[in-house]
Amino acid sequence: MIVKNFAVLFTFTFFVFSDTAFVDLPKCKLDNFECMRGLYESVIHGIGKTGIPELKIPPVDPIKLTNVTVNVLGLVNITMVDGVAKGVKDCIFEQFRVNITEERGHQENTCDISIKGHYKIESASPLLEALLQGNAISGEGNGKIKIEKLHLKFDFPFYAQKRDDGEIYMKCIYDLIKYDYEIRGKVGFFADNLYLGNQEISETIMTMLNENWQFVMSSFGQPFVDKGVELYFKFAGYFFDSVPARNYILDDLTPYARP
Ligand SMILES: *[C@@H]1O[C@H](CO)[C@@H](O)[C@H](O)[C@H]1NC(C)=O
Ligand SMILES: *[C@@H]1O[C@H](CO)[C@@H](O)[C@H](O)[C@H]1NC(C)=O
Ligand SMILES: *[C@@H]1O[C@H](CO)[C@@H](O)[C@H](O)[C@H]1NC(C)=O
Repeated sequence: MIVKNFAVLFTFTFFVFSDTAFVDLPKCKLDNFECMRGLYESVIHGIGKTGIPELKIPPVDPIKLTNVTVNVLGLVNITMVDGVAKGVKDCIFEQFRVNITEERGHQENTCDISIKGHYKIESASPLLEALLQGNAISGEGNGKIKIEKLHLKFDFPFYAQKRDDGEIYMKCIYDLIKYDYEIRGKVGFFADNLYLGNQEISETIMTMLNENWQFVMSSFGQPFVDKGVELYFKFAGYFFDSVPARNYILDDLTPYARP
């Protein structure tokens, strides 16, 4: 594993202290891909469980999920009313590289992610009810999904953003992130209190989902992974949005900076 080697190769020059968080980062040349990878990994590990309260950066692990809704094929809404996603700080960060001239970045990582909490499922679809002979699907209880070895590849546009404070930041354009994923492990589902009409069907449905997880993920997985990626970038991005680039990038970004 190359994971910790950068620690001896680079001098730590940037420290963020707080009562609970301590982040020490290498400073990197943009074209030193291994240093950049290590930098990104240090950022995620550093934010970790506590975030950095002084900079209003929330933790990345666990990530709190409150009323996060995913709509599946326009048929049902599945909401995590009150839950947590765990695993981001232990992701393996394989690549993190940016090209400032092209204003594009690329990132690859592999994570074991588990999401659990109080879920709710609602269906208001006449089509689905017709298919289920007038019975609605409903449920509210404990739910859990566990994804092993989720390999994610991102391409993201970014630029050196000059702000009113005179500092330059690495600004990612979140809406234009492109990504691809592959599940290299497996997926497990759990939920209780799931009903068809007034019949409890949790066990039957969970057995079916777990036995066919590959089919389930390829048919219905996309909106969940989309939501996960959106949240991941939101949380992982707080740092870069809050800390001027000169604290972790050695190159002079002035020639590239724009508002
Ligand atoms: C960035 O992209 C430009 C144009 O495609 C290329 O010439 C340059 O070598 C790239 N830089 C790095 C660090 O990959
Ligand atoms: C979540 O949604 C429920 C039901 O709509 C609502 O009662 C609750 O206040 C919401 N929680 C938050 C934190 O928005
Ligand atoms: C899902 O939620 C959206 C937005 O809250 C709502 O417009 C839609 O009717 C809901 N669909 C179902 C099937 O419950």
